[in-house]
Amino acid sequence: MAASEANEGAASWRAPLNRLEFATIRVHDLDIALEWYTRALDLQVVDKNQDLALLTCGGDHHVDLALRLDTQGTGRGLESYSFGIDGTQSLENLAATLRARGTEVKRVSVDLPAIDDAIRVETPTGVAFQIVASDERPTGVRNTARDQGVAPIDTDHMNLLAPDVKGYADWLGTTFGFATSDAVEGPDGWGAAWTHITAQHHDVAIMATDDPSTRLHHVAFLAEDLNHMGEIADRICSRGVDRCEWGIGKHGGLGANNFLYVKDPSNNRVEINSNMDENPFERPVEIYSADRFEKFISVWNFQPPPPGFELGS
Ligand SMILES: [Fe+2]
Repeated sequence: MAASEANEGAASWRAPLNRLEFATIRVHDLDIALEWYTRALDLQVVDKNQDLALLTCGGDHHVDLALRLDTQGTGRGLESYSFGIDGTQSLENLAATLRARGTEVKRVSVDLPAIDDAIRVETPTGVAFQIVASDERPTGVRNTARDQGVAPIDTDHMNLLAPDVKGYADWLGTTFGFATSDAVEGPDGWGAAWTHITAQHHDVAIMATDDPSTRLHHVAFLAEDLNHMGEIADRICSRGVDRCEWGIGKHGGLGANNFLYVKDPSNNRVEINSNMDENPFERPVEIYSADRFEKFISVWNFQPPPPGFELGS
């Protein structure tokens, strides 16, 4: 049976974040990574230098993914994830509110097209949570226009790895007002949690790990629908990899979204997803037992996740 409990800390205040704007992930070779993301996912290069490449899904041509060359570390994983807000004055106000609430906030200079200002908060795993703003446009607003080509429409959500899942979810709640939609019981506390600050079921999910070198499970992009996911799967399997890792399938709880998982050449996992349900903020957290979770992680068939799916980068 699923239990439920109220969302701690999330009810009193919610930061005016629009949604995920982009993620910055590490890669072991920038040229190889760029070749893959442009050929297999049909993303377009907005800008690049020797250490950093900026990619867009198209549509509004704003940055949807940043690739950072990492030759000193593991050459994979997550540097930061960035949510958008409506303008630099809102960012200024948010920074003041966060500081007044006891959060340490750093101003960072980001050299990104159509981004004027950014602040950064360190999350419990050391990954940075950035908030970015522009005076020409509201950031983190979904543009559903689809260019010619197969590329996904936009970034969609983050799925992180953390040693203390409930601690991370509660931190997102008390710091920014994220609400937890669902959680799964694990042997030592929560094994997974799905949190949101937009109407959709999850914007940031967290899964348990005891490997301190991995903090990313996947970065998810949005497809229009299942037909579009099929087009993307065809593209990936003709120009990117021999086979995808898992899917196309459908999750049960968890927003009931369609999923397709694939690894990039640096071993970072990317998800293509569509048709995620919304989740009301007032809904209590649904806490599932581990065996019930096994049943709804994939609802169309009996195919379990492939070996190693719990591992990240
Ligand atoms: Fe996901």
